Amino acid sequence: MSKIKKIGVLTSGGDAPGMNAAIRAVVRASIYHKLDVVGIEQGYHGLILDRIIKMDSSSVSGIINQGGTILKSARSESFRTKEGRAKAAEVIKKHKIDALVVIGGDGTFTGARIFTQEHNIPIVGVPGTIDNDLYGTDYTIGYDTASNTVIEAVDKIRDTASAHSRLFFVEVMGRDAGFLALRSAIAAGAEAVLVPEVKTDHQKLETFLQSGFKKKKTSSIVLVAEGEKEFGVVKIADQVSKNHPEYDVRVTILGHLQRGGSPTAFDRVLASRLGVSAVEALLDDQKSIMVGWVNREVVHVPFNQALKNKKNLTPALLSLIEVLSI
Ligand code: F6P
Repeated sequence: MSKIKKIGVLTSGGDAPGMNAAIRAVVRASIYHKLDVVGIEQGYHGLILDRIIKMDSSSVSGIINQGGTILKSARSESFRTKEGRAKAAEVIKKHKIDALVVIGGDGTFTGARIFTQEHNIPIVGVPGTIDNDLYGTDYTIGYDTASNTVIEAVDKIRDTASAHSRLFFVEVMGRDAGFLALRSAIAAGAEAVLVPEVKTDHQKLETFLQSGFKKKKTSSIVLVAEGEKEFGVVKIADQVSKNHPEYDVRVTILGHLQRGGSPTAFDRVLASRLGVSAVEALLDDQKSIMVGWVNREVVHVPFNQALKNKKNLTPALLSLIEVLSI
């Protein structure tokens, strides 16, 4: 018999479509297993400030289709400090919370790992970020929806790009990772993609501009991940404009619209599976792990492993762009 009687759930870091579906799954699975469950508003920030709300089955009705997070999110500076974490531990004790499910990305799990070490509170993480940059899971919640949002936007940009025979540089989110840019680039038929994981090869870009764009004299779209290390989208576009005054260059920064919207079926189902699995993992006395999704199965990945290792882009996908953009 597990000692866990009461679970707290929070969302932290950048929100991602499907987080609500994950909250719903955690709440309903807890009730199913006869546990008490509370929501913690505004992530670790709200935990320190004692923003705890009782949750029941109806608190999560009608949210599976909503983007954002009903529990709200935050990036907490105070949780990075020992004092902040000690306050959070007091709140947990006060409310007799036995374990936490934290939904978020690597920052969320880094906080969770330290918190467990310091205060011995069992925590299971559910990967939720549009960046898909967590090691140990093929997909993170929100990545599929965000990819579809990017594709829809790029499809629209292509209409006007083609009407004016323009060259567009489109910035896609991903501070440190190019998963969203790469997947969206393939699906939207972009001519090239620049990602933080691969040093921008100016010669290659030049060859593409000379042979591809020039020859076809039509529109082209280059997706640039936000974290492209060398210049960023504006500088790259400026440089190309300067070196090629013959091209009509434009820049679009997609920004936070990529984080919103109703989650896709894939994200809703993934969030539901992982949310329920997180509660079951806690009941099984697991702690300091992330529940991930590998080869269509739920896996348990220790926070240490998920955080220490870097998830790599699939090389085959990188070469796909080259083959398909000729
Ligand atoms: O981690 C998710 C993410 O959307 C990144 O892609 C992006 O770099 C960052 O969050 C933006 O953070 P914020 O919303 O705090 O500006």
